[in-house]
Amino acid sequence: MARIFSGIQPSGSLHIGNYLGAVKNWVELQHKYESFFCIVDYHAITVPYEPADLRARTADMALSLLAAGLDPSKCTLFVQSAVPEHTELAWIFNTITPLGELERQTQFKEKASREESVPAGILNYPVLQAADILLYRAELVPVGEDQVQHLELSREIARKWNARFDARTTTEKVQAKIEGGEPGFFPEPKALLTPTRRVMGLDGQAKMSKSLGNTIDLLEAPASIWEKLKPAMTDPARVRRTDPGTPEVCNIYHLHKAFSPPATVDHVAVQCRTAGWGCIDCKKVLHESMEKEIAPIRARAKEIAANPQKMKDDLAAGAAHASTEAQKTMREVKQKMGLT
Ligand code: AMP
Ligand code: TRP
Repeated sequence: MARIFSGIQPSGSLHIGNYLGAVKNWVELQHKYESFFCIVDYHAITVPYEPADLRARTADMALSLLAAGLDPSKCTLFVQSAVPEHTELAWIFNTITPLGELERQTQFKEKASREESVPAGILNYPVLQAADILLYRAELVPVGEDQVQHLELSREIARKWNARFDARTTTEKVQAKIEGGEPGFFPEPKALLTPTRRVMGLDGQAKMSKSLGNTIDLLEAPASIWEKLKPAMTDPARVRRTDPGTPEVCNIYHLHKAFSPPATVDHVAVQCRTAGWGCIDCKKVLHESMEKEIAPIRARAKEIAANPQKMKDDLAAGAAHASTEAQKTMREVKQKMGLT
């Protein structure tokens, strides 16, 4: 079974961008792959934060992931800082990562332009991400589109490390390839994208993101979701109720595609083009479709919240399994690098 790895920041509960772009896919993939899913708290501390708050957000994220359907008996779910090898391998990768590549990362440029003083952790963020993935020698990484550039860098780091330290002979590499394996010690990880690889925020202007305040939380109460849907951006051409619209440019239509059955999606498109429905009618139907998918998740979240010890135990078991695998990789890495 091939291995997959993915990470998510402990931003509290999941929003529907994380859910549709990544986590919903994880829930399916856990049955098909040997899966590692990680709450990346060391990534989260690259921006200012409150310690007590981080602790709470980490627990909330674990709860959301379990409620969304991750099953600790099927996948390895754990918190990054519980497995110190992540930072150990990140340091090693720092020594072979070109500074220019880090400075070219879009997320770095965006974050750096927002801060007055930029900590080195923001720059080195994708190096830690490469370490997360390669520590488990994972081949596939299910993420949203915003992570594609970081993954390209992970591949480059794997290539560079392999070229420098993996002393396999050409014959051994060819043999590995023939047997369906990777030619180098570290595989070059590939992104696994979902059909909804980029969910836009309620403002319709930028990707849905906690830091932009344009999110709907997965565990939000139905009434509160409705309060957010009502004023959400639609096709700007639909000024009056009778103005026809273009579904493809409307964010609400894209959410229908994610939540509503295909027949409803087709119907929505016709009603929009012919001004048969107003935008509010369309949003009501979306709200119903969302409820069908989200209500069971909300119910599961209540059950999990009622037994916090079970969740702690699940995360500890996940960390123990991840540690065993991480230590295996680090033994070989250090051996090949002359560190032991
Ligand atoms: P983050 O919350 O930034 O750690 O993201 C966790 C996962 O959700 C990553 O795989 C992201 O690519 C994905 N993701 C975050 N926001 C969105 C969005 N608006 N649309 C699609 N995927 C997203
Ligand atoms: N950078 C990712 C994000 O913001 C989170 C992440 C950290 C990650 N390590 C990872 C994703 C490893 C995939 C694989 O969404």
